[in-house]
Amino acid sequence: MTVDQATTRALLLELEPVVETNLNRHIGLAKEWFPHEYVPWSDGTNFDGPLGGTAWTPDQSKLSDVARTSLIVNLLTEDNLPSYHHEIASMFGRDGAWGDWVHRWTAEEGRHGIAIRDYLLTTRAVDPIELERMRMTHMSTGFENDHDQTILHSIAYVSFQELATRVSHRNTGKFSGDPVCDAMLQRIATDENLHMVFYRNLLEASLQVSPNLAMRAISDVVRNFQMPGHGIENFSRKSVQIAMAGIYDLRIHHDEVLLPVLKKLKVLETPNLTDDGAKARDELGEFMAQLDSQATRFTDRREANRARAAARKG
Ligand SMILES: [Fe+2]
Ligand SMILES: [Fe+2]
Repeated sequence: MTVDQATTRALLLELEPVVETNLNRHIGLAKEWFPHEYVPWSDGTNFDGPLGGTAWTPDQSKLSDVARTSLIVNLLTEDNLPSYHHEIASMFGRDGAWGDWVHRWTAEEGRHGIAIRDYLLTTRAVDPIELERMRMTHMSTGFENDHDQTILHSIAYVSFQELATRVSHRNTGKFSGDPVCDAMLQRIATDENLHMVFYRNLLEASLQVSPNLAMRAISDVVRNFQMPGHGIENFSRKSVQIAMAGIYDLRIHHDEVLLPVLKKLKVLETPNLTDDGAKARDELGEFMAQLDSQATRFTDRREANRARAAARKG
């Protein structure tokens, strides 16, 4: 489906007052915070190299393998911020309220990578050389939004993506078993939640302004959703590990990311849908039902595997 430039311009213009209202709401609610306050600096020591400190070895890390993988995925995801900025700035523009939001959002996101990296290096939780090489590979690939058919697709994608990153930071913190890590990721998750609310409000307005196009966008995005970090090297292997640990799996994706947004905006009850809008709604409804049973199959299989592993140990 093509949405011509004139339609895009009209949508940007029509949604601009909503952006302005929500930007002001966001600035009123967002509390200033400082990444350096969340890092246990006194746990740190110099590394080898120019400063002649101690090289990293795996036994220095207090985190489990899975917690480490999850933190690395979350950090590399945050690291790709220049690419995300590029994507949303080219979609939403850099003028007026849209531009103000794009810059404010980018500045807030910048804190996330700073805090996580400082924590991981200070606590020697990960191999710093491997981490830096992964960052180089990941950022050299860049990020391309798979959902850039229309600005409504972009708005729908970021609404779900901000919630997905919120849940993933929050659960990684809990899983880490380190109260310092948990507090830091909880703080970051609070930011992601406010970002989600901003985009969700914009998505709600989009459904009112242009129900058929917005429904098509939501349906396309939900049915083909990919995490923002999907370009990370060995992402599938890492995401299986994360799912097996219950940090982020299909059940969580369905119950805590997709469904809350769809329900809050009463997406499936959207009135005044015609032709493609109605078709998109039906496809979305069918997909959600399938995903629900797929999620159940996954958690059942995981339980069975766990029980078998426990029996072997016992
Ligand atoms: Fe973030
Ligand atoms: Fe965010």
